[in-house]
Amino acid sequence: MKTTISVIKADVGSISGHLVAHPALMEACDDTLGKALEEGLLEDYYITRCGDDIDMIMTHRNGEENEEVHETAFNAFMKATERARELKLYGAGQDLLSDTFSGNIKGMGPGVAEMEFKERPSDPVIVYCCDKTEPGAFNLPLYKVFADPFNTAGLVIDPNLHDGFKFEVFDVMEHKKVILECPEETYDLLALLGSTGRYVIKRIFKKNGEIAASVSTERLNLMAGSYIGKDDPVAICRAQSGFPSAGEVTEPFAFPHLVSGWMRGSHNGPLMPTSEEEANPIRFDGPPRVIGLGFQIADAKLGLHVDLFDDPAFDLAREEATKIANYMRRHGPFEPHRLPSEEMEYTSLPGVMEKLEGRFKKMD
Ligand code: 13P
Ligand code: 13P
Ligand code: MG
Ligand code: MG
Repeated sequence: MKTTISVIKADVGSISGHLVAHPALMEACDDTLGKALEEGLLEDYYITRCGDDIDMIMTHRNGEENEEVHETAFNAFMKATERARELKLYGAGQDLLSDTFSGNIKGMGPGVAEMEFKERPSDPVIVYCCDKTEPGAFNLPLYKVFADPFNTAGLVIDPNLHDGFKFEVFDVMEHKKVILECPEETYDLLALLGSTGRYVIKRIFKKNGEIAASVSTERLNLMAGSYIGKDDPVAICRAQSGFPSAGEVTEPFAFPHLVSGWMRGSHNGPLMPTSEEEANPIRFDGPPRVIGLGFQIADAKLGLHVDLFDDPAFDLAREEATKIANYMRRHGPFEPHRLPSEEMEYTSLPGVMEKLEGRFKKMD
């Protein structure tokens, strides 16, 4: 029997602007998921949050894109939205594009990362949840985990990893996808992955086809062709015994690389790894955050988890992120802190151009 892990997330309201999801909303989600557990739809679940995003991590036996599981997640976010409206929270229902469920939560606003697999004798699974950034934020760290031997020693010294991995990459603008093999096509892969706003890693597989990682890309994917903003993403990675070790899966986050998002979804800033408790993006609505939760799946139960970035060894990454945040902030409204205008979520440029239209003169 196979196990499915579904991570479904949404921002349905927060305290004091886009800062922190209200505990009452997480309780509303807990009510709905608790019932689904009693009824036997879910095997287990854990609800956390990163900034203003609620992340529901669920295990079950129903496979990916299961209508009942998606509907349960949708109902949980609807119930949380009701509470958010009562409490007059900021951005109540922000990520729900519709209030009627239509068979699959994909395309309705929330982000979804799922994978189905046959459990190994021991199955460590790591879930990452971000706020104030976009799915392309995972390109660099996941490339390092699954393709860079300077990050993942196992690619060189573990015969079970030596073959490398396959990357499924989405072109979110053209709504196309491609699979590239590593190490054979490393340079082609990097040529795509460097364009983090356009090409995003969706899934990673072992060469034998076994799933290794899965990333949420939903709204970008749906709205291909027109830019509609950032979607604070989530990712699932399997670890150990044929996959990179837990330490190799977390190692890239010791480098707080620059990602798009932050204030108004329109700025580049460092991705700061924090504990669940410290996932509060307050300074200039950021800097962007990532939390990591390490589970040990057993008979489709999540069990206890380790709060992976609650480790003093990541203190320096947080300090470095703070220094980079200072440096970037000093650019004010200038690129490369502010995103190029075509990528800005709340751009004022069309209005400015309209106002100045008659004043632009031909240059000789
Ligand atoms: P252990 O010997 O503690 O199981 O660790 C092995 C390993 O792969 C560490 O990354
Ligand atoms: P969220 O996408 O996390 O809601 O943030 C939006 C924003 O405008 C932050 O400044
Ligand atoms: Mg918000
Ligand atoms: Mg958010």
